[in-house]
Amino acid sequence: MKLSEKLLKALVAQVNMEFASGYLYRSMSHDMKNLALNGYAKWLDKQYEEERTHALKLIGYIEDRDGVVDFTDIAGVKKHYSNPLDVAKDSLAHEEAVSASIRSIFKLAREEGDLETEVFLQWYLTEQVEEEVNARDNVAGFEKAKDCDGLLYMFDAHLADR
Ligand SMILES: [Fe+2]
Ligand SMILES: [Fe+2]
Repeated sequence: MKLSEKLLKALVAQVNMEFASGYLYRSMSHDMKNLALNGYAKWLDKQYEEERTHALKLIGYIEDRDGVVDFTDIAGVKKHYSNPLDVAKDSLAHEEAVSASIRSIFKLAREEGDLETEVFLQWYLTEQVEEEVNARDNVAGFEKAKDCDGLLYMFDAHLADR
């Protein structure tokens, strides 16, 4: 069964959002490397890879449903970060926006009675719970470390284990 036009449009927009997420995380990693926070930079690089897989999984699904993906412009990243707490806070806000987007596509699939897309999107709903937990943990860690270089060093080293 072919995807409805509305659902196809929403899924294609989500592909773009996942690539844009990757772009954002890679820019954050770059800024953290420049602050010698190599653990967090590595963590963010892994996240960049994850976002790529999120986008590719969506593209594969759209292809399986006989849809055409438009590879539209990916939004640029307009800012640089001078501390990791800002990165963690922006990551959390970003993931909350992604969760909202996935939820709205899921609701659309339900409205349209597209059972397969509901099932497909369940993975993304679950993944977003994990993404928000990770982002919240990072906010909490960098919040505690913000006035203590020793703690910052330790937390950064801990993130390298991801
Ligand atoms: Fe994602
Ligand atoms: Fe994840």
